[in-house]
Amino acid sequence: MQYKDNYNSTISDVNVFNEIVKEKESIGYYNLINQDTSEIKKYAKSIKQENIVVIGIGGSTLGTYAIYKFLKHSKELTKKLFFLETTDPIDIQSKLDGVDLEDTLFIVISKSGTTVETISIFKYINSLVKIDNTNTVVVTEFDSKLNAYAKIHRMKIFEIPKDVGGRFSVFSAVGLLPLAIVGIDIDKILQGTKRVHDSFFEKKSAYTNILKKARFFVEYKNSFNINVVFSYSSRLEGFNKWYIQLWGESLGKVDINSTRQGLTPIGIIGPIDQHSFLQLIVEGKRDKTITVIKVEDFDNNLKIPAIELDGLEELNYLDGIEFSSLINMQADATIEALNDLNDIPCDVITIDGVNESAIASLMYEYELLTSVCAKFMYINAYDQPGVESGKIILKGKLQA
Ligand code: PA5
Repeated sequence: MQYKDNYNSTISDVNVFNEIVKEKESIGYYNLINQDTSEIKKYAKSIKQENIVVIGIGGSTLGTYAIYKFLKHSKELTKKLFFLETTDPIDIQSKLDGVDLEDTLFIVISKSGTTVETISIFKYINSLVKIDNTNTVVVTEFDSKLNAYAKIHRMKIFEIPKDVGGRFSVFSAVGLLPLAIVGIDIDKILQGTKRVHDSFFEKKSAYTNILKKARFFVEYKNSFNINVVFSYSSRLEGFNKWYIQLWGESLGKVDINSTRQGLTPIGIIGPIDQHSFLQLIVEGKRDKTITVIKVEDFDNNLKIPAIELDGLEELNYLDGIEFSSLINMQADATIEALNDLNDIPCDVITIDGVNESAIASLMYEYELLTSVCAKFMYINAYDQPGVESGKIILKGKLQA
């Protein structure tokens, strides 16, 4: 008797880890932690313009925005950073309103170099101001058409390595260049990524946490298909958006058995969404896991003053409490309430403070988590065939 099968049985943690170690040789984002940043820092120092406008979309902007949004109120940044991402004309005009275009550096970022949104906005900018190598820098692949354009105009080019995918590119020049220009310490960013990298690959805490979480998400994906990130800081709004793209575009795939896979990412903000989405979590269908993200030190001591409000004396227990303590207590209360229900999977990530290395560690950990989930699901995290058909149809319509 002979026997053959094409079953893909559940992979052990050790095998997933070995697969990731193998993948590290061909997938570039893992190794960005060790890059030489001197060229980026030298260029950043030379920039005189006060306004920095990033033109790009998806992986070319979301990660940078996440880090910038998280840090911008705690840093004395030397320049203002704007993002032109969408073809919404009102968004384009309103963002450019009040920006002195003669005192602006444009950073055009596109891995492929031919993304419709990016190039149409760049064309529009060309109609407003003279574009040349004194006010424009390009971040793209070495052989893209955008690269060829930049060479013709002798513009400075920073390369996106071929083996670094768009949504995994925040720690390449895609994110590091604009962040360095506005005054964010990119070496501290890389230190944050390295901490998680080393902990994972040396099989320390990141390894244990990521493997456990990914295995749970994938094994229980038919019950808990929705992964809610509940960030208790408005500064993490950009992180939430980046997470949604990373998770959605990487994990919504057809696996090697032609079975449709995917976990649905949701990003919400505490305490705002306690007055909204939380009801659905608590009493709705049990189809969600919840990850609460807390910030230990908000680097801000704004307090609720001891002011008596007529008729509202019962709320005097708020007097003297710092807002940062209040928001963290609100997070703790939500976590306790969810845990009391006993049937909602919930984990808590606490980042130490509002600094470069904290946000970078969080984002690198999510990149690793995405890669590990993809391995458990037998899918390719790094392509996006599902978004291509719409692009082809659009091109046809535009050329008709
Ligand atoms: O993750 C991805 O690959 C995509 O989201 C891209 O980042 C996005 O489509 C933008 O592509 P490009 O950088 O080629 O302009």
